[in-house]
Amino acid sequence: MKPKIIVAICGASGSIYGIRLLKSLLERPIDVRLIISSAGEAVMRHETDYTAPMIRFLRKEGVQIHPDAVLEQYEPDNLFAQPASGSFHHNGMAVVPCSMKTMGSIAAGISGNLIHRSADVCLKERRPLILVPRETPLSLIHLKNMQRVAEAGAVIMPASPSFYFQPQSVHELVDTVVARILDHLGIEHHLVKQWGE
Ligand SMILES: Cc1cc2nc3c(=O)[nH]c(=O)nc-3n(C[C@H](O)[C@H](O)[C@H](O)COP(=O)(O)O)c2cc1C
Repeated sequence: MKPKIIVAICGASGSIYGIRLLKSLLERPIDVRLIISSAGEAVMRHETDYTAPMIRFLRKEGVQIHPDAVLEQYEPDNLFAQPASGSFHHNGMAVVPCSMKTMGSIAAGISGNLIHRSADVCLKERRPLILVPRETPLSLIHLKNMQRVAEAGAVIMPASPSFYFQPQSVHELVDTVVARILDHLGIEHHLVKQWGE
């Protein structure tokens, strides 16, 4: 059985992280379920040369999609989609980038769209949930929402690139964040060296 991973892209700055994660997953025999919020799509258009639907964009970019990879994209308001149900088995969900709005909705248990609902299901079913917030500075409300979701079982992994491998480009910086997301999803990769390698 190939791993199934849910990827959500929200309207925080940093769509490039979500896109890079998608590319890395689809280079492998992985079944990816993608949800992009409407703000996520608007910000992505602003920050990248994204053109819908995502698969067309990735092909245009020349991404080497593995022949056994699957990409299914859902509308964010489709609460009938598989990830909305706990009976749908998968290997984890990453929200990359995660806006403070989505963080707050997950923290409050308010399933207003498919991203919130899928994250809520991960928490109740004890499945891996990785949230990659991008905001600065953080208000007390942001911090408390993060504490709440971390206590409920999510991993908070701020989009904060590392510099200790002396990255030479934005892409290499982005990879330092995406590598840690893949680590937590249990996906082997060689995006960056492990410390000491
Ligand atoms: C260009 C742009 C950049 C934004 N950057 C951020 C950000 O870095 N973090 C954040 O929490 N919200 C950011 N926002 C605001 C969110 O897009 C907004 O709160 C939206 O309602 C989030 O909806 P979503 O969580 O459904 O994607 C940004 C908005 C725009 C237009």
